[in-house]
Amino acid sequence: MPSRKILLDEEEMPKQWYCILPDLPKPLPPTIEPAKKAPGPGIVPLIFPKEIIAQEFSKDRWVDIPEEVREIYRIWRPTPLYRAVGLEKALKTPAKIYYKYEGTSPSGSHKPNTAVAQAYYNMKEGKERIATETGAGQWGSAIAFGCMTFKLDCTVYMVRVSYDQKPYRRVMMELWDAKVHPSPSTKTEAGRKILKEDPESTGSLGIAISEAVEDALTHEEANYGIGSVFNHVLLHQTVVGLETKKQLEKVEDYPDVIVGCIGGGSSFSGLFTPFYYDKVSGKAPKDTRFLATEATACPSITKGEYMFDHGDTARITPLIKMHTLGHDFIPPPIHAGGLRYHGIAPILSMLAQEKKIETRAYDQVEVFDAARLFAQTEGLVSAPEPSHAIKGAIDEALRCKETGEEKTILFMLCGHGHFDMQAFDDYLQGKLLPYEYPEEEVQKSMKRLRELYPWIDTLPY
Ligand SMILES: Cc1ncc(COP(=O)(O)O)c(C=O)c1O
Repeated sequence: MPSRKILLDEEEMPKQWYCILPDLPKPLPPTIEPAKKAPGPGIVPLIFPKEIIAQEFSKDRWVDIPEEVREIYRIWRPTPLYRAVGLEKALKTPAKIYYKYEGTSPSGSHKPNTAVAQAYYNMKEGKERIATETGAGQWGSAIAFGCMTFKLDCTVYMVRVSYDQKPYRRVMMELWDAKVHPSPSTKTEAGRKILKEDPESTGSLGIAISEAVEDALTHEEANYGIGSVFNHVLLHQTVVGLETKKQLEKVEDYPDVIVGCIGGGSSFSGLFTPFYYDKVSGKAPKDTRFLATEATACPSITKGEYMFDHGDTARITPLIKMHTLGHDFIPPPIHAGGLRYHGIAPILSMLAQEKKIETRAYDQVEVFDAARLFAQTEGLVSAPEPSHAIKGAIDEALRCKETGEEKTILFMLCGHGHFDMQAFDDYLQGKLLPYEYPEEEVQKSMKRLRELYPWIDTLPY
């Protein structure tokens, strides 16, 4: 019987993060300032510490993890890698399935890997507070934890629908001393404008980002923190993949396929990019495939366009080249997971465009079916977001069953679902319905974007 749990000693935790920027097929397009119709960083230098900005653009492949950050990581890192023996048996697959479990962190997901680092760099530069947004509350609780460890204040704009549906995440943030506001709120211009147009607005990540960025821009003592999409966030998450590589070395295995869910793309990138490095540097023993899974309710890559768009609804951020559903995207409130952002990390978007990664979209019913099978065979209750990865891994394993191939499948279980019981209850009672975001809505958003910036398709990037 293979070992179910593959562990590392504390001193085997990586000392450096891996930066993919020098290994991309081509340089990332610059961000564009709409007023100038030309490249420029926009507000970015005004809301992040210098060290983070340097990481955002640095071409250094290996970046030292500060010892103060590793010291906090030690609370839960290294995280376990599991062999999904029970799931393999239930599927009767010849494939081997492994999953890296990030649910053992204080807030229950991969998000503290970057939250702690961001809080550290802000503290070092003398900032007193971080303002941020949160969707389902995973990121908000991670940054609340990160701020607490380095004695910073924390303000969280939480998407209204989640604020109402997930009160326990709010309590967790408040336990760690964060101030939490439902978004849209009356605290910012951006929030007040949305509430004037629609007093019943259920909010979106795009709106909450506008509020948090405005807060940081208008308060000297505060900076902004972000849980996904940006290059530095993907960088900090590589601690996950680097650990996994060491763990697989211990059992002399290597993945044929790596699966992860994508909201903004940070957890999946954290797991697969160190293996991508093996591939591009000729060190990989296999031609590993990388498979990103997203929600049909928010199909940023499978239905979105690869074009310049704002990262937020109020158009405060510069234009970023990424797969997008449009910055005015409001996700349907029926799907309350963390995969509801309109865009995808520029790094991941480019890799998808260059066909270096594959993408598949799943609806919430098939995803919860997969989560139930996983809970019943592996015991762990997964968050709805990584349940998209479980579904992807199951599909890959079933394909192996058809072909008889003994492949190695690795997936990212980036968080537990202990705060998602309402969603599981709705599922068990048959109240969840499959939902597909309509193609026409994407087209309408893209049309509005092109009307706003008629020159957008002439940009030479
Ligand atoms: C548990 C969990 N997984 C995944 C995501 C999606 O983000 P990302 O694609 O950056 O990992 C979220 C977003 O909040 C999340 O809470």
